[in-house]
Amino acid sequence: MQAVEVITRKRDGGELTAEEIRWFIQGCVSGEVADYQAAAWLMAVYLQGMSQGETVELTRAMAESGNILDLGDLASRAVDKHSTGGVGDKISLVVVPVAAAAGVIVPKMSGRGLGMSGGTLDKLESIPGFRVDLSDAEILEQIRRIGLVITGQTPSLAPADGKLYALRDVTATVDSLPLIVSSILSKKIAGGAPAIVLDVKAGRGAFMTNEGEAEQLARALVDIGTRCDRRVIARVSNMDQPLGQAVGNALEIREAVEMLHGNGAADLREVVLSLAGEMILAAGLAVDLPEAQAKARQMLESGAAFQKFRAMIAAQGGDVTVVDDLSRLPTAPIQEIVTAPMDGYVASLDAGTVGRALVALGAGRRKKGDTIDHRVGVVFHRKIGASVHVGEALFTLHLADRQQEADARYEILGAYRFSEQPPLVPPILGRRITAGA
Ligand code: URA
Repeated sequence: MQAVEVITRKRDGGELTAEEIRWFIQGCVSGEVADYQAAAWLMAVYLQGMSQGETVELTRAMAESGNILDLGDLASRAVDKHSTGGVGDKISLVVVPVAAAAGVIVPKMSGRGLGMSGGTLDKLESIPGFRVDLSDAEILEQIRRIGLVITGQTPSLAPADGKLYALRDVTATVDSLPLIVSSILSKKIAGGAPAIVLDVKAGRGAFMTNEGEAEQLARALVDIGTRCDRRVIARVSNMDQPLGQAVGNALEIREAVEMLHGNGAADLREVVLSLAGEMILAAGLAVDLPEAQAKARQMLESGAAFQKFRAMIAAQGGDVTVVDDLSRLPTAPIQEIVTAPMDGYVASLDAGTVGRALVALGAGRRKKGDTIDHRVGVVFHRKIGASVHVGEALFTLHLADRQQEADARYEILGAYRFSEQPPLVPPILGRRITAGA
């Protein structure tokens, strides 16, 4: 087979066979297909799209481009979770221990922040010593021992995705439904869990800016995942405003730990209970969603979920004294309260603007490999629907130095819109999408 034939066929709108897709993907990993050919093919896929059958084959070929974790006898209770990413999205830090405390096995591979979305690995690295580079063998040993792991993608799992994603990033081909679906699912399939719960974010702080697009992505992920023999459930959730109260790495660890003690923001708790419930149900540990959610609530309130989180931090080399005493987390030297400029209600709080302001502060990355400052961020005291009076605290900036203050204040205040009348508060949870429904 010749790479140029496969590229030509896709360029001209043809449908590729399973053999062609498999050969091409293997070639990308082995080097037989050159980077410039892979880039040309990605652009052809971007422009011509892929049928559902082609997307299934692409997903399988990418998943099988490396190892697939063999969870053995743990597989029947194993459920993975993935979020398409957003601003203040610390859900995994809470949901994974809640589900694990209820008996779900969670081998979770997470990513780093890029652009306005934060990354779970960056947040966890606020805890000194915490390792996110576990090997396949270490992942298996840890889930057998304590039932949960959150680590980085290992190089042996879905290596084709690492290769193709790096090319997509620099060739304007990220934003393509078959490429997004195969990228997300191939990594999840390689992670070995037979069931996958997806949190597809919709709104100004997400990849998909409106609910319709997010539902389309969720539907595609569920359909392709199901055809790849996985049980996949997706929940769309709102990302117009930041989730919870904190945005910033160490600040989000603090908020997650507080939630694991049963305290915290209502929107965060609602998404946590919904997704943890889905994971408990998918693992067969409850008969229906209400029972699964009741179990999730019990895990939060009894402290069992916190103990699981603590066990994971210890197992991965993190300093547990930080989790026990949150004042030991990295803390920004300057904390500045910003107050409301007028009386009224918070009508909107643009998560995209907040996410970009946080990148400028150093909490996120402009490009791969940038170093981040775990200390900086923002804590919101007023979000959409809250009434405010001039002079009341809107948010607190956590800054590395005084030079950051003026821009951060201007940007984040600019993310707010106020109204005289109470606005409609968008529901945090959107559609639940399952196979065939
Ligand atoms: N997340 C992924 O893992 N891959 C994509 O293509 C987009 C988001």
